[in-house]
Amino acid sequence: MRQLVFLTGAGMSAESGISTFRDAGGLWENYDVMKVASIEGWYEDPELVQQFYNDRRAQLAKVEPNDGHKIIAGLEKEFKVSVITQNVDNLHERAGSTSVVHLHGELTKACNESKTRIYDIGCNPIHAGEKAEDGSRLRPFIVWFGEAVPMIEKAAEIVSKAEVIVIIGTSMQVYPAAGLIHYAQRGVPIFLIDPNDVPAPRNVEVIRKKASDGMKILKERLAQMYV
Ligand code: OAD
Repeated sequence: MRQLVFLTGAGMSAESGISTFRDAGGLWENYDVMKVASIEGWYEDPELVQQFYNDRRAQLAKVEPNDGHKIIAGLEKEFKVSVITQNVDNLHERAGSTSVVHLHGELTKACNESKTRIYDIGCNPIHAGEKAEDGSRLRPFIVWFGEAVPMIEKAAEIVSKAEVIVIIGTSMQVYPAAGLIHYAQRGVPIFLIDPNDVPAPRNVEVIRKKASDGMKILKERLAQMYV
């Protein structure tokens, strides 16, 4: 089966009701990113950080995967599909995708301060003062600004084997995720699905639609390409 690789960002989950970060009305308009999503912010005001992610988890409990997530999952019938996402929600998995790499961590997990112990917490809050087994503070299992991105090597390897790459709903502003595309083999078809006029790398076929409509079009394109 052909290897199809999706690189997804916040726009993937927008139609499910989760805000993006950098669009008008996005999360970074209402929050100071360095206060709530950086390792410095965590040291400075852990309660604020916990509240931010507790709110994100509570919201995740109320939303559902959209058609875009579902079409990606459905493509596993015909393709070997890998999803590499910057999203911390679990909507790809809930839609049925079986191979999902989370570059920036997962909302439904907590960990100790050294990130050596990971706990499934679902959409429950982490309470102030809660400790991990090693006595360190329990924290969200999120890759904050200023932290290493351990999954990047695995992601780069997956991209290097891709036969088709599809970028959906990411402003491609955050590295190292934004650099992953450079691991693609020469000549691999690359599609970009985004309703806004985002700068696209050369040789990229842009589908200027929201994730769900864009995925319907992409599915037809794939059927044409691989009849
Ligand atoms: P951004 O908010 O930067 O970009 C969202 C993209 O989604 C934009 O290009 C929008 O045009 C597009 N978009 C909006 N609605 C859409 C829809 N319905 N369908 C498809 N696309 C849509 O989000 P990311 O690029 O994911 O990291 O942000 C990357 C990282 O920055 C996040 O993982 C997060 C953030 O700071 C951390 O917190 C560590």
